[in-house]
Amino acid sequence: PPKTSFETSSRRIYSNMAAVEASKRAAATAAVQNHYPTNAKWVGIGSGTTIVYVVEAIKNSGTDTTLTKFVPTGYQSKQLVTSAGLTAVEFDAIPEGVVLDIAFDGADEIDDDLNCIKGGGACLFQEKIVALQAKEFICVADSRKLQSRLLTNWAYIPIEVAPIAALRVLRKLRELGSEGPTVRLNVLGKEGPLKTDQGFFIVDAPFPPLLTTTDIQAGKDGSGKNGVWEVATLAQKIKAIPGVLEVGIFYGLTGPQAQAVGAVGGQKPV
Ligand code: 5RP
Repeated sequence: PPKTSFETSSRRIYSNMAAVEASKRAAATAAVQNHYPTNAKWVGIGSGTTIVYVVEAIKNSGTDTTLTKFVPTGYQSKQLVTSAGLTAVEFDAIPEGVVLDIAFDGADEIDDDLNCIKGGGACLFQEKIVALQAKEFICVADSRKLQSRLLTNWAYIPIEVAPIAALRVLRKLRELGSEGPTVRLNVLGKEGPLKTDQGFFIVDAPFPPLLTTTDIQAGKDGSGKNGVWEVATLAQKIKAIPGVLEVGIFYGLTGPQAQAVGAVGGQKPV
């Protein structure tokens, strides 16, 4: 009967949600236990629902945070930091020459090379500048987010765009092979496009799954000619479109390949 099946499915949804939350908390606890420097002076704190558990784990770790400055990646992240009784410092107030000891953040999807899609919560620009300012970038995510290739489960790349250039950016993204890129709309009954903390728009651009370095080493073509892109190649193409402030592909920032990028190419990760 409908009532029984509704109750059954709602119980299932509830227990799945509980498992996801438990997975987020477990990942956050492990991330803090394994990576948080006990003498951290400067710490980046990202956005989303998983990062809440990171702040909880820092508070529970027993570390003395009285002299630690936490750099948030947006308005909600700042609220999270201050409501936990921690000291928030805006990105622009980081003194010249200071590098963050570590930055924690969530992700929408993570591939085999530890590249991520970010921006589901529309904070990708601030998230990227904070991550780039850190010695170590720790991405914390529950097991649903891990996929061999980006854009397997997560459907689109979030891109932060100047409102004046939005239509042109949408056109350029279609030329790169994105099918149906859209300007993200407000939720909660507010009409019109969502605006970021910078007053910019978010364009969500669907693409087919992105190739990893393993795919390229195996001889696959990620140049986009056949509509299929390798992660870094597509990130650079999108970033080069006039009007794009930042792209929600984070690559070369996490794991062993971050050191490889620095050591081999000496390039700044995108
Ligand atoms: C916001 C982000 C978030 O880190 C990402 O969306 C993950 O969020 P959650 O932890 O809620 O799944 O990139 O712009």
